[in-house]
Amino acid sequence: MKWYVKGWAKMTVVERGIVVRRATREDLPAVVAINRRELPENYPYSFFEWVLYKNPDLFLVAELNGEIVGYLMAERGVITCPIDVAHRLGIPHDSVIHLLSIAVKREYQGRGIGSKLLGALIDHCSKGSITSEEVFRIICLEVRVSNTRAQNLYKKFGFEIFTTLKFYYMDGEDAYLMIRKCF
Ligand SMILES: CC(C)(COP(=O)(O)OP(=O)(O)OC[C@H]1O[C@@H](n2cnc3c(N)ncnc32)[C@H](O)[C@@H]1OP(=O)(O)O)[C@@H](O)C(=O)NCCC(=O)NCCS
Repeated sequence: MKWYVKGWAKMTVVERGIVVRRATREDLPAVVAINRRELPENYPYSFFEWVLYKNPDLFLVAELNGEIVGYLMAERGVITCPIDVAHRLGIPHDSVIHLLSIAVKREYQGRGIGSKLLGALIDHCSKGSITSEEVFRIICLEVRVSNTRAQNLYKKFGFEIFTTLKFYYMDGEDAYLMIRKCF
């Protein structure tokens, strides 16, 4: 059963029953398991804890019938971004959101869950302020040049290639640095 979510760049078909919500510490074992299964870029458990601690509003999970089927995590600023995209664009560092990781369990991919996660982040950041002081200008991310599936997702939501990061990944593959304005 599918339903339509309005208000994103494009109408998106989403599996009924999917709930996107903020992650909690209790979700982290499931999130880490998805990360290790679906992505070659894995991080220590403590990194997920740190991201959640620092950015509780930017760490989202997708839940279906009580099962965590996808996640997305982002950070404020460009702490782990390899180039100073804020400096290049002439905008404050703290106005940048850096999407660190997004993944959906493979048996649930292609059902609109990645779109729902990314749409929720963009919606959250596009409001202009999360607390009364914060104003976000761009969201940036890195993606393998071979990962056209993820690139299609990002392009669908208005991300554009900003530059290529040579030999970005441990295996030597290049990355695209993609950015999207928040408003
Ligand atoms: C990338 C990923 C998060 C997308 O999640 P998803 O739930 O499958 O995505 P959706 O179903 O919302 O599809 C979103 C868009 O992705 C693109 N897409 C989805 N499946 C695709 C496929 N098989 N081939 C090409 N593009 C595809 C389409 O543009 C789609 O939009 P559309 O359905 O309106 O055409 C998911 O495939 C995944 O977890 N991949 C492995 C981890 C990964 O690569 N993460 C990104 C690292 S940068």
